[in-house]
Amino acid sequence: MDVHGSPGVNQQLQKDIRVGNMYSTPMFYSPYGPEIALAETRLSGEPHALLPEEAALLPSSASPLRRVEFSIGRAAAHSALAQLGVSPSAAVLRVPESRAPLWPGGFIGSITHKSERAYALAADSTHARGLGIDLEMVNDRHIDISKRIATAEEITWIEQSPKLKSLRMLLLFSAKESFYKAVSPLLTDHIGFHDVTLLPRDESSFRAHVSQRFLGQLPSAEEITIHYAIDQGYILSMCRVLPLD
Ligand SMILES: CC(C)(COP(=O)(O)OP(=O)(O)OC[C@H]1O[C@@H](n2cnc3c(N)ncnc32)[C@H](O)[C@@H]1OP(=O)(O)O)[C@@H](O)C(=O)NCCC(=O)NCCS
Repeated sequence: MDVHGSPGVNQQLQKDIRVGNMYSTPMFYSPYGPEIALAETRLSGEPHALLPEEAALLPSSASPLRRVEFSIGRAAAHSALAQLGVSPSAAVLRVPESRAPLWPGGFIGSITHKSERAYALAADSTHARGLGIDLEMVNDRHIDISKRIATAEEITWIEQSPKLKSLRMLLLFSAKESFYKAVSPLLTDHIGFHDVTLLPRDESSFRAHVSQRFLGQLPSAEEITIHYAIDQGYILSMCRVLPLD
């Protein structure tokens, strides 16, 4: 199974991503066209500056780790927005009733952070109805969570290959986290891990088959793809819900 990050159409753009205080080769490449921006941030010596209205979202009791994660996540969000020509003074706030990011008017996106890395996807909302991104560390999770997160068909796929079992479980978990971030703002009801079955589409993506209950609210499986890649011990999953015709 080839699950390594591979160059995509955004390769040239991605080369220019600012990483901390220096330019560096990114770990992952976008599977999308330039209308969907992917940005990476790594923790550098200096803290990433937050806009005052973004800093106000952090409670004074926030731990140093939470402050780092939040600020590198917002830095990645601004880097993705900059690729789309959005001013750095446009704040990425928070949806009051969830922890989901609230993007500048006319834009949507998603943020993930793990350890000292953060990624963000962003797009003009004419190019996507939903975007989701999730970063996981490959050696981070040893317990078997397959029953909690996987449907019967997914468990069959996970167990088909004993050698890849824990990797497949983590891939599925990450893909479902990115799927959740992309679709939950579009739904009126909570969608749970067993409400969607992700089946392999090719060697680096899944197709999402949602349960009957959500069929009227989400596009068909043909239209919801979750891409993933693995590099340097990390998994990055990305989900885009296409705009309505
Ligand atoms: C919301 C959730 C996906 C966040 O994932 P996580 O592993 O905690 O953390 P990540 O680093 O990947 O992402 C964190 C970022 O996600 C974003 N986020 C938080 N809640 C969100 C939501 N409801 N929707 C979209 N994005 C959300 C935020 O930007 C957050 O970073 P910030 O607080 O610094 O701004 C996770 O907490 C969760 O609820 N998972 C359950 C999902 C589920 O039920 N899935 C069912 C299968 S479809």
